[in-house]
Formats: sequence, structure tokens, C-alpha cells
Amino acid sequence: MFYTTDRNEHGLPHDPFKAIVSPRPIGWISTRARDGSVNLAPYSFFNAVSDSPKLVMFSSAGMKDSASIAVETGEFVANLATESLARQLNRTSADAPRGVSEFGIAGLTEAPCRLVAAPRVAESPAALECRVTESFHPKGIDGAPSHYFMVIGEVVAVHVDEAILKDGMIDTALARPLSRLGYLDYAVTAEVFQMRRPRTPDASDV
Ligand SMILES: Cc1cc2nc3c(=O)[nH]c(=O)nc-3n(C[C@H](O)[C@H](O)[C@H](O)COP(=O)(O)O)c2cc1C
Repeated sequence: MFYTTDRNEHGLPHDPFKAIVSPRPIGWISTRARDGSVNLAPYSFFNAVSDSPKLVMFSSAGMKDSASIAVETGEFVANLATESLARQLNRTSADAPRGVSEFGIAGLTEAPCRLVAAPRVAESPAALECRVTESFHPKGIDGAPSHYFMVIGEVVAVHVDEAILKDGMIDTALARPLSRLGYLDYAVTAEVFQMRRPRTPDASDV
């Protein structure tokens, strides 16, 4: 099948776009508003966009609490979402009013960060403390801004639970990160394999 997105007439029961751009890592974004209240929500429009400096982004469909607090305070934390935390993560996506902590709703524990005021999720095996570098509405080809609002932050500190380290490296099969597919689907990364990049175009060394 083929379709163009100006009409988006795919003829399927549901738009397949997000199932194609998948699996997507989930940034479990915690923030602390100026009044001290805490917020936590999952974002699968989330990814790393640079590793020098280390930059991650999340993108909010409209100005949700995570984006507005991150912009107001200049800070957020991206916690690693894992299989064992899936149900709690889902609970933090509930539409709670600003000021109501999703840590409480999901029965999660706040752990202090070192360089930012927002707490991290104590139960999560890794967290990135971030300072906002840019935020904007991404544009379409017609130049019109999307209603999505993208927040980019520089990772200024990293927490890793040593329980997910093996031989000094993060063992993804131990961490079992959760990712988002299309529709209501999720995946867990439980199996990993290695490939070395070819050093020459003829690929005789791989
Ligand atoms: C796994 C998952 C991924 C999500 N990804 C996004 C996303 O990328 N962008 C978005 O705007 N909402 C996303 N949502 C919905 C938000 O988490 C939800 O609207 C939440 O209430 C926003 O909370 P906040 O207003 O406290 O930021 C996602 C929900 C789930 C369960």
C-alpha cells in the first residue's frame, strides 16, 4: 500500500504512522514547578538528539504540564521506563490537574536529584538530569507551526543503578527498557546482539 499524508487516506482502521516509527523510547519526565509541586508523565515522542553535548528532547501535544514546567523552570529529568514499572508508568499518564503529583497517584518514590530541583523516580534504574536549551513548535513543510511543543535539554548529570551494570556496561537485557509502539502496543527489550561497524566500504572486516 501507499498513501500521501496531505490527505492521509491510508484506508486502515487506525493511522499506522506511530507503529512505523517504533519502537520509541519512553522519556518518563519529572519536573518540579516553582511552587514546589512535582509532576511526572511519560513521553514517547522522546529521544537523544546529540551526544556531545548530550541532548534529549520530548515533544508535547499542546502545552501539557511537563512542557510548561520545564520551560518555566529550565529543568527536567528523564527517567528510564522499564518493564517492571510499566503499570505505574501508565498510571502517571492520567490527566491529573497541575499541582497533583503523579508520583503519589502511581505509588512511586521521589529521590532527590543533585543539579536540578526536580526529583527522579527512585524505582527507575537510570535518570538524566537535564537543563532546557531550546523549546519550540516544530514546523511542517508549509511553515506552519505544529501544535506539538518540543523541549530540548542538555543532560547535566546521570544516575545509574549499579544493578543494571555488567562488566562496567549497562546490560540492556537486565534493565529491560520499555518502549512504545503504535496503537496500544508496548515492547520490552530483553534480547540484545552485537555488530561491529565496518571500517571499510567493502565490509570484508564484518
Ligand atoms: C507511554 C506513553 C507515551 C506518551 N507519549 C506522549 C508524548 O510523546 N506526547 C504527549 O503529548 N503525550 C504523551 N502521552 C500522554 C501524556 O503522558 C499524558 O497526556 C499526561 O497526562 C501528560 O501529563 P503532564 O500534563 O503532567 O505533562 C503518553 C502517554 C503514554 C502512556
